[in-house]
Amino acid sequence: MGLENLKIKYATTEDMPIVRTLWDKLDLHIYGKPQKIISYAVEAISNLERLVGKPVYEHIKVCELNGAVAGVACLITLPERLFGSKSKGYIFHVYTEEACRGEGVASVLIEDLVRVATGAGCHSVFLYCRPELIPFYRRFSFEVEGDGDDLYSLSQDMYKMVLQLK
Ligand SMILES: CC(C)(COP(=O)(O)OP(=O)(O)OC[C@H]1O[C@@H](n2cnc3c(N)ncnc32)[C@H](O)[C@@H]1OP(=O)(O)O)[C@@H](O)C(=O)NCCC(=O)NCCS
Repeated sequence: MGLENLKIKYATTEDMPIVRTLWDKLDLHIYGKPQKIISYAVEAISNLERLVGKPVYEHIKVCELNGAVAGVACLITLPERLFGSKSKGYIFHVYTEEACRGEGVASVLIEDLVRVATGAGCHSVFLYCRPELIPFYRRFSFEVEGDGDDLYSLSQDMYKMVLQLK
């Protein structure tokens, strides 16, 4: 891994076309056919953002490998008023371009978003992943929570993993 070739930054409007192609590929990966589910969700949320006048997708980060966008990951922080006294971060839409895998792109994105969540005062960060990625997320100290019995896990064969920060 040549980490010096990797650069993390917030996605800009100019990055969004490539980010959308990455999400379409993730969509295909998750759902088995190109349904543009993520793109539609992002579009719906963008409309919501215009209505409420503030960002919902607070943190969309991209990782450039040798100057070109190679991967993307998002974080939203869920406020205390929804979760008792404990605010949570949710990492999602993680995808690395196939040709760029194994170079540390997703790892630096996850580490960066965990730092953002920590700085935002989150008590924990959670994500959903397929069983084969459990060892990958354990590298960052995420642990499987529950027995996959929440609605999203049941419908998508995903595991919920949680990193306790406080
Ligand atoms: C998972 C994914 C984001 C990893 O991206 P990446 O930039 O290659 O990740 P890194 O280079 O930081 O780390 C690579 C590690 O990912 C893990 N990994 C990736 N794909 C894996 C798979 N199918 N099965 C098991 N481990 C896998 C391995 O541990 C690998 O480690 P290694 O390089 O030492 O073998 C990428 O493979 C991807 O986009 N996959 C398809 C979409 C997806 O599954 N997204 C995650 C949703 S939670």
